[in-house]
Amino acid sequence: MAEQDSEQPIAPETEEAIRWLFGRYPTRRALVLPALHLIQERLGGVPAAAVRHLARILELPAPEIQDTLSFYGFFKQDGRIGRYRIWVCRSLSCAICGGEDLLGYLTEKLGIQPGQTTPDGLFTLEHAECLGACDFAPAVLVNEELYPKMDREKLDRLLAELAAPAHPATAGATNNA
Ligand code: FES
Repeated sequence: MAEQDSEQPIAPETEEAIRWLFGRYPTRRALVLPALHLIQERLGGVPAAAVRHLARILELPAPEIQDTLSFYGFFKQDGRIGRYRIWVCRSLSCAICGGEDLLGYLTEKLGIQPGQTTPDGLFTLEHAECLGACDFAPAVLVNEELYPKMDREKLDRLLAELAAPAHPATAGATNNA
């Protein structure tokens, strides 16, 4: 598949989807963020070669795209994102209510550090700043779903549920290529 080409990592269909957006944004610059989202969704991350490739597509300087990417913690450049991206809030309310403990628990349980993905491609662990759910601290976000008032037992149940083959999102492949 063309996405494996190290200097052309953005597949033709993804490039086509980006080009389709040209007419919907006032400038190519305004298209950088949506394009980065598309690439990450399809490649599981935005490697440096994809930044260079996108720069050629948008006819913008690669460092400019890299700056945008680096500004947002959401984009991942070093490795793939797992099927489930787990964000553990470490801001004040959650930290006080045990968020740091949950993060430590997950690093032990999953055997990875924040920013890393489990070898089976299932989980990526991240620390987050305030998730906007301070009344429900400690809060955890998995992909786009918020889990309030978490504790170790709830995390155990959640991970087991997500890892179960019968779970709709794990019934097929184990990554989001
Ligand atoms: S401090 Fe954790 S959600 Fe606000």
